Amino acid sequence: MDRIRIKGGRRLHGSIPISGAKNATLPLMIASLLTEETLVLDNVPRLADVGQLQRILGNHGVDVMVGGKRPGETPYDGQTLHISAARIVDTTAPYDLVSKMRASFWVIAPLVARMGQARVSMPGGCAIGTRPVDLLIMALARLGADIEIDGGYVIARAKNGLKGGEINFPKVTVGGTHTAIMAASLARGTTVIENAAREPEVKDVADCLNQMGAKISGAGTSRVIVEGVSRLSGARHRVLPDRIETGTYAMAVAMAGGDVLLENARPDLLQAGLDVLAEAGAEISATNAGIRVARNGAGIAPVEVVTAPFPGFPTDLQAQLMALMTCAKGTSHITETIFENRFMHVQELVRLGAHIQLNGECATIEGVGKLTGAPVMATDLRASVSLVIAALAAEGETMVNRVYHLDRGFERLEDKLSACGAAIERIAG
Ligand code: EPZ
Repeated sequence: MDRIRIKGGRRLHGSIPISGAKNATLPLMIASLLTEETLVLDNVPRLADVGQLQRILGNHGVDVMVGGKRPGETPYDGQTLHISAARIVDTTAPYDLVSKMRASFWVIAPLVARMGQARVSMPGGCAIGTRPVDLLIMALARLGADIEIDGGYVIARAKNGLKGGEINFPKVTVGGTHTAIMAASLARGTTVIENAAREPEVKDVADCLNQMGAKISGAGTSRVIVEGVSRLSGARHRVLPDRIETGTYAMAVAMAGGDVLLENARPDLLQAGLDVLAEAGAEISATNAGIRVARNGAGIAPVEVVTAPFPGFPTDLQAQLMALMTCAKGTSHITETIFENRFMHVQELVRLGAHIQLNGECATIEGVGKLTGAPVMATDLRASVSLVIAALAAEGETMVNRVYHLDRGFERLEDKLSACGAAIERIAG
């Protein structure tokens, strides 16, 4: 298994190109199942999760053609996928594929909406929480699907097609909102979704679906209205920049010190995160090319943060912020409200010399003068990158093990950081 070795203490200078968003790319690729025409996606990141989803779509009969290199393209430019679900030959998503990537469960929506049936494996457990899919199933049932749970599979049937209805989510769910919007796009009549997720990735998928001929209004707000249509066409759509990758590198610059331009990054996608970084002492400025992040001289100030659905502080940046706060001048509190088990990085940060106390969903981080490098273990995608951030400031060498977690969501991480002066390298396993 690959590992990543980091020698800490180097400041970061230069620019980092931000890739397309993983959490928009996955639902966009799944939305291709709604039409027999070709969906072309530009700015697609080269990630393990994207590759896994290609295999899952392939199992349904979907052809995915990766566009070749174009003149002037750099290795950092996203790839273009030409996705054609002209003929869906299998409406089952098997356990061995779905269990590797939870978001693949969302294929249930376009399959039942277009084909009138779907048999999709339940995703199973996850390191960061129980993560049930009861609200996704509730949404499909509200659109008239007959639901059966059998042998670890959810079987959804709607032989006369889905029918528009009212969906009121008791809690904000990103996956539930994607599922409801995709299914409602081909349902007969109007669907009203209350307490919908407002994440920018939800808006990006709705924008793409509207390009494909759907009639969706209010995406990005908590009330979404979908007028069902009988069929959707192909389209070409550019994936929006990854706000979590943006926030991650911004935290890395704040941790190591320096001055870096995050190219293609958009401040409107991450205002809550940028506000916290400014509070912590980083200089943040928006430019035409992206977002400039700098910390020179000033120490890191402690913060009080509670994770929340968009536009609140994203749970997917919680671990990275905790790493930054390990070296703050004072005591911080971070409360995780979205996932019940998203503190797996705490004991690994403590191995680097951090002082962190956990009390239920709240972590108290007492800043220390310095961290010291050590071997650490990655446990999930965002936890693993928090260890990289801590290691950038730690004295001596840190070895991060099981970096396959990182490859799921960060494209060319060690190249992007070493281009800015970090002493970081991948050790092939
Ligand atoms: C999406 O997961 C993201 N994944 C997650 O990013 C992100 O952390 C999460 O949204 C919250 O922002 C993708 O976009 C691929 P939810 P999702 O449904 O849709 C509970 C990363 O690191 N819930 O909004 O699965 C659930 O357990 C990943 O890139 C139910 O109870 O998250 C959680 O506590 C990690 N029943 C809360 O709602 C349901 O049916 C929010 O989950 C569905 C969810």
